[in-house]
Amino acid sequence: MTETITIRRPDDWHVHLRDGAMLEAVAPFTARQFGRAIVMPNLSPPVTSAASAAAYRERIMAAVPDGSDFTPLMTCYLTDDADADDLAAGHAAGIFTAAKLYPANATTNSAHGVTDVAHIMPVLERMQDIGMPLLVHGEVTDGEIDIFDREAVFIERILEKLIAALPGLKVVFEHITTEQAVQFVDSAGPNIAATITPHHLHINRNAMFVGGIRPHAYCLPVAKREQHRLALRTAATSGSPKYFLGTDSAPHEIDAKESACGCAGIFNAPYALESYATVFDEEGALDRLEGFASLHGANFYGLPINEAMVSLQRSEFQVPDDIETAGSRLVPFHAGAIMKWQIVQS
Ligand code: NCD
Ligand code: ZN
Repeated sequence: MTETITIRRPDDWHVHLRDGAMLEAVAPFTARQFGRAIVMPNLSPPVTSAASAAAYRERIMAAVPDGSDFTPLMTCYLTDDADADDLAAGHAAGIFTAAKLYPANATTNSAHGVTDVAHIMPVLERMQDIGMPLLVHGEVTDGEIDIFDREAVFIERILEKLIAALPGLKVVFEHITTEQAVQFVDSAGPNIAATITPHHLHINRNAMFVGGIRPHAYCLPVAKREQHRLALRTAATSGSPKYFLGTDSAPHEIDAKESACGCAGIFNAPYALESYATVFDEEGALDRLEGFASLHGANFYGLPINEAMVSLQRSEFQVPDDIETAGSRLVPFHAGAIMKWQIVQS
């Protein structure tokens, strides 16, 4: 049995670092695990200009421990009146790595999202021209569509048409949760990729209802049936360069989760790599963890591979029930559970 693995330092291609006190609380966890991270722009108000992204990047750097080699990669929140020139200028200046499409009202702080992709076609055409990746929250928001079907319906109604209209656009289908998404990504060209979270590899929708309602297992897109979880595990561990690590770590204060109208989001940043390693071990695919965690994403984004290395060892520890830090109280993914892999502290 493999007892230790050493891989390139991984990157997180989808994370919510928040702002203010919450940023102070959570940024050190991501900076400890990852060399770079694609930072989601769904602040309130959202990050829609290069100037606001540059200022946010400064605040992130101030929240990361001294001496950390962490680099935040910024994204632009697309709205119906997104400006192609500002976006392209921000990309050229190295401020914006990518842009994020939230369908209006799909999830946390997405009220300003795009109401119809037709409104932003000129922006998407420019992104295609300059090779700037589009990151997609792939759910329709139509209240008549069952919440468990919203991703599959988004593929049919929006995504297939979008990539047919813009065949050269680089698209990352974020935090995929269904076998339909896996089939879509597998059958698309090399410019279409997907991130997969640790929680969608570990839990199916039952996790939200074990003995009562479990708000800490609620996120968007919501976890689906077991057959979908298994399809995601096959995709993540397949070795395909189309799939890479994106935690979608989405912290909310404990009171905002444990509420009559609890927020969507799972805070997995503290033990994300350990969580993925457990999945790859269970699937007999530890030799493919490095590709998924540290190589495929950088290659897709056209960025260099990290030089630093990280080791994990087979060794048990218990995840705390909650984490109190910098004035926030947060419940981590796997709270109270035994993890079987641990990062070797250097
Ligand atoms: C995210 C958040 O809280 O910002 N929540 C989540 O459940 N993933 C938003 C998102 O990525 O959908
Ligand atoms: Zn997200």
